[in-house]
Amino acid sequence: MSLPYWSRWPVLLSGVLLATAGAAFADDDDDDNARIRPLNHAAWRQECSTCHIAYPPQLLPAVSWRAIMKGLDQHFGTDASLDPQQQADILRFLEANAGGEGRSRRGEPLLRITETRWFVHEHSEELPKDIWSRPSIKSAANCNACHTAAERDDYSEHTLRIPK
Ligand code: HEC
Ligand code: HEC
Repeated sequence: MSLPYWSRWPVLLSGVLLATAGAAFADDDDDDNARIRPLNHAAWRQECSTCHIAYPPQLLPAVSWRAIMKGLDQHFGTDASLDPQQQADILRFLEANAGGEGRSRRGEPLLRITETRWFVHEHSEELPKDIWSRPSIKSAANCNACHTAAERDDYSEHTLRIPK
C-alpha cells in the first residue's frame, strides 16, 4: 500500500528537525560545556584514581596537564610520583584528550579543574552557596560526592545526587 504524497511530509520534516538538533548537539560538544567522554587508559585509570577519581582529561588544557605531571612529587601536598615511563605514558594520554586552551587564566596554567571559569559557572547556578563547606562534600574536587557515577566518567543528571 503506498501512501499519498502529502502524508509523507511530517516524516520528512521531522527528519530535517532531528538532523538540525543533531548538528547543534555536535557543536555543543566542542565548547566548554562538552559532555564528558568515557575513556580507557589502564595506567591513568589506575594510578590517578587512588586518592580521588580519575579526573576527565577534557576538563583541562594540555598546558595544565603538563604542569600537573611535572610536579607529581609535590602534588597538592602529597607525593604522587610515578616511574618516568608511566608518567610519560599517562601524560601522552592526557594531552591527546585535553580540552581547549581556554581553560587557563592569565597565561598561567591552572592546576585545578575546580578553578576554571567553566567549572565555577557550571556549578554556581543550581547549588546553594554553603555547599562546598558541607562535611558530606569537603571539597569541590570531591566530584563523586555528587556525581555518583564519576568513576565511570558519567556526569549526567540522572546520576547526580546532592548530599545533605
Ligand atoms: C597520593 C594521592 C594522589 C594521587 C596518586 C594523585 N592525586 Fe591528584 N590530588 C591529590 C590531592 C590530595 C588533591 C587535592 C584534592 C582537594 O583539593 O580536595 C589532588 C588534586 C588533583 C587535581 C585538581 C582537582 C581540582 O581541584 O580540580 C588534579 C587535576 C589531579 N589531582 C590530577 C591527578 C592526576 C592526573 C593523577 C595521576 C597522575 C593524580 N592526580 C594522582 C592526591 C593525589
Ligand atoms: C556539590 C555537588 C557537586 C560536586 C562536588 C561537583 N559537581 Fe559537577 N555538577 C553539579 C551540579 C548541581 C551540576 C549541574 C547539573 C545540571 O545543570 O544539569 C553539575 C554539572 C557538572 C557537569 C556538566 C554535566 C552535563 O552533562 O552538562 C560536569 C561535566 C561536572 N559537573 C563535572 C564535575 C567535576 C569534574 C567535579 C569535580 C572536580 C564536579 N563536577 C563536582 C554538582 C556537583
